[in-house]
Amino acid sequence: MEGVTDAPMRQVISECGGLSFCVSEFLRVCGDLFPAKVFYRHVPEFAHNCRTPAGVPVQLQLLGSNEEAMALNAQRAVELGAGAIDLNFGCPAPQVNRNDGGASLLRYPDRLRGIVAAVRKALPPEIPVSAKLRLGWETPEDIFRNAEEAAIGGATWITIHARTKKQGYTPPAYWNYIGEVKKQLNIPVIANGDIWTLDDFRRCRDESQCDHFMIGRSALATPGLAFAIARELGINAKTTTPFQIPSPSENYLDRWIPLLQRFAEVSAPVSQGNLYTTSRIKQWAKMSFLRNQFPWFDQIKLAKTTEELFTILDQQAKNIHDKSTPSQETLH
Ligand SMILES: Cc1cc2nc3c(=O)[nH]c(=O)nc-3n(C[C@H](O)[C@H](O)[C@H](O)COP(=O)(O)O)c2cc1C
Repeated sequence: MEGVTDAPMRQVISECGGLSFCVSEFLRVCGDLFPAKVFYRHVPEFAHNCRTPAGVPVQLQLLGSNEEAMALNAQRAVELGAGAIDLNFGCPAPQVNRNDGGASLLRYPDRLRGIVAAVRKALPPEIPVSAKLRLGWETPEDIFRNAEEAAIGGATWITIHARTKKQGYTPPAYWNYIGEVKKQLNIPVIANGDIWTLDDFRRCRDESQCDHFMIGRSALATPGLAFAIARELGINAKTTTPFQIPSPSENYLDRWIPLLQRFAEVSAPVSQGNLYTTSRIKQWAKMSFLRNQFPWFDQIKLAKTTEELFTILDQQAKNIHDKSTPSQETLH
């Protein structure tokens, strides 16, 4: 997720377990071939076998509409260490769409196929090339043609965010369309959109008939969800954190604090002063607040430094603890 899942975030979330791979924020290809440093800055994991320190593979996502430039940059990325390329045909940001990128290509299935085919052709066959699609620009039925064109272009798999660009992020996600597409294609289809809980996951699986799932916002809002889903899918998922992850059913503040502290620790080397870490933790809390009623969210908004933020959180955790522990007098 652009502006959210950078390398420190990928590291911490992948430590929570349950992910088979993660996708980078998009790198926008406008025409030129990027120098190596751009790729390394965007996906520092290139230097480590393209995996997070927890061992989860990272896929590079490219966004753009110029076939040749997309192919050249994909080729360069693979030379530098990328293990898989994802192509963004879902971004709804007006600035991106005005410049002929992201979801705007859903209106031109032939061009979409051309981009997939150009990138596919430029890369060794063992490197997966996937396409991330929305259902359409305005019309959800457009997914049938676009998915087919992506497959003809040579996509190894496609991921479908089950909404049109016009629908933005407004619930619900229309997983049933994914199920229809899956029947039509011979390549794997990954279902995405509004999987916030284990129950959502089960309904998505039933409606989409998919075997593969992508979670975006809930990977942050409920960091134990991927692990719980993986277990439900029969995958022997493992966490590499020494502390307990906030699980989908027990999302308590005292479970969050060590996780956020871990993020502060991991992001310290890339943090410019204190601001990066503090603002990222606030952003994370905001995303969690989409689904959880965290009374501490309002409090940390005011924190200016990471130290201040953790002092507030510790105090909040203590208050919650004091309230839930009966005093000696009450016990007598
Ligand atoms: C802040 C934000 C940034 C996003 N950036 C990207 C991106 O760079 N590439 C992409 O394919 N999707 C991006 N998405 C879309 C998500 O990948 C996902 O398709 C969408 O949020 C629906 O899934 P979810 O309900 O699991 O979050 C972004 C979403 C959000 C909220």
